[in-house]
Amino acid sequence: MCGIVGYIGTQQASEILIEGLRCLEYRGYDSAGIATVSEGEIHCIRAKGKLNNLQDKLMGHEMPGIVGIGHTRWATHGKPEEHNAHPHLDMTRRVAVVQNGIVENYRELREALKERGCTFVTETDTEVIPNLVIECLNQMKATGELSQHPSPLTEAVRRVVNQLEGAFAIVVLCVDYPDEIVAARQQAPLVIGFGLGEFFCASDTPAILPHTRAVLPLENGELATLTPLGVEVCNFAGQRLRKHPHLLSGASIAVEKHGFRHFMLKEIYEQPSVVRACLEAYIDREWTAKETTHPVQLGLPAELYADLQQIQIVACGTSWHASLVGKHLLEQLAGIPTQVHYASEYRYAPPPLTPNTLMIGVTQSGETADTLSAISMEKERRSNLAPAFRPRLLGITNRMQSTLTRLVDCAIDTHAGIEIGVAATKTFMAQLMAFYCLALDLAYQRKTISPDRLQEIITALRHVPSQIESVLADQEQRVEELAHDFSETQDFIFVGRGINFPIALEGALKLKEISYIHAEGYPAGEMKHGPIALLDAKVPVVAITMPGAVYEKVISNAQEAKARDARLIGVTPPTNPHAAEVFDDLLPVPEIEELLSPLLTVIPMQLLSYHIAARRGLDVDQPRNLAKSVTVE
Ligand code: G6P
Repeated sequence: MCGIVGYIGTQQASEILIEGLRCLEYRGYDSAGIATVSEGEIHCIRAKGKLNNLQDKLMGHEMPGIVGIGHTRWATHGKPEEHNAHPHLDMTRRVAVVQNGIVENYRELREALKERGCTFVTETDTEVIPNLVIECLNQMKATGELSQHPSPLTEAVRRVVNQLEGAFAIVVLCVDYPDEIVAARQQAPLVIGFGLGEFFCASDTPAILPHTRAVLPLENGELATLTPLGVEVCNFAGQRLRKHPHLLSGASIAVEKHGFRHFMLKEIYEQPSVVRACLEAYIDREWTAKETTHPVQLGLPAELYADLQQIQIVACGTSWHASLVGKHLLEQLAGIPTQVHYASEYRYAPPPLTPNTLMIGVTQSGETADTLSAISMEKERRSNLAPAFRPRLLGITNRMQSTLTRLVDCAIDTHAGIEIGVAATKTFMAQLMAFYCLALDLAYQRKTISPDRLQEIITALRHVPSQIESVLADQEQRVEELAHDFSETQDFIFVGRGINFPIALEGALKLKEISYIHAEGYPAGEMKHGPIALLDAKVPVVAITMPGAVYEKVISNAQEAKARDARLIGVTPPTNPHAAEVFDDLLPVPEIEELLSPLLTVIPMQLLSYHIAARRGLDVDQPRNLAKSVTVE
């Protein structure tokens, strides 16, 4: 992860770099730094912690220069201390580098540089890069090669990136070439922005959109040289490439809390609109069971579905939980055997190849390195096989201009809008909606669902936005009060069964992420096989107890927990006849058929974790050690 930016133009670089980093802080906030070049000197300033600390440090500090680079860090190699903050400089302070990613062979490179007299002042993998670049420039000078290259800095960076292993994006500046910056991409995102007499580069478009809509995403193995006159792109082999920017549609992203205390709470409240946007985009508003037309319009090519025998889903974190709900839907509605894999595990132990298999990559950011590498690996291992084994790749994402969408054959846009809170809420809801639409589409096409049943589900889905609104209106205060009781609690258990087991996992993850309370999500029936030993009066249990196939079973499992003195919190409709007798506290949700219930049961989970974290006075939107987009494996 980490966010990187670069600027070359006519304005003071430092302000533009800080603005850009502000839009990328979701990628990491362990430290931040900027470097500019002016009058034969690199000016570099860095600060531990969030960007505000860097801004404080910059107050009253002269930071001249119209060329610069910046970085916001999520620590991988080396503690989040100021000396490990980017930009990193070579030992002679002539080259500065920011990196997003990991240089996997940095140890060998570092040892070799040390043998050649180089000294290091950080524990990072990045510090080898400026030292290799300056060494290369010095060699080119010594051999008289400098004049052979239109941009010696680009040539030096090109030679260096060819020595680096791993996934990375870098931006480099050098005092000897003050009119250029060089950006390179290998498996970590990097976008170039084209302004009028000024050029930008950044890990993600929000950092560029306030200045220009003309952007060019670099591909893996590409380098760009930015000068005040324009941008040249070449590949790592040094061949010049003809590339043109395209215009991004949509407004630049307004990052406002609109009166909410935190982005997370605002995003929780945006969920009814997210569901409406998905319904509007993908479900025919006029459709009834009498129609012969297709009610779900995902715009996916027919080849994707042809003779489909199996689905493999790869995802991480909250997207993995949404995928577990997806599996349930795809199997139960469309009858397609579906497996959900942690993307980080898939690449190194993929299942045996099967014919007519669809792979779905689910990622709200479209940039999660583990998910992208799992998909790339699958694409590669299937590329030269018989037609039935060829890759069929579908993405589910919130970012249609991400690396994911360039990797897959087609993608479903989840229409969630940008999410700022690091803990995913509305993007999870949107992913669930994408899976409902996909499963209904497949079920309809494969005739595993009757038109009447389809109409029943669509009608119920149309009620979901107002049902979420009612949970939010009725529950928030209640959850806030309940949260007061748990601000000192150390362990939590969440249980659910069937389609609500993934919601128990998501409830536990939300709590861990933002309130730093240890929490476990369990299938309710599995408690008795071990975790029940953890229970006593100090461990609250949240039981998702929705009417349906597993209702009575969950009630019994909840009773088992109660018998061990656990304080029992029921997420259940107010009509539940057992509610008063079984649960100590209630988080009521409206009656809804079991198949659709995750769309409602997740809301009290989100509110509970939010209010516990807020009560504990924690940084809800930027929890420690996390980042929204994880671009390292
Ligand atoms: C990070 C975030 C999680 C997110 C996961 C997957 O760990 O902190 O909130 O669920 O990445 O992200 P993705 O963008 O692939 O959905």
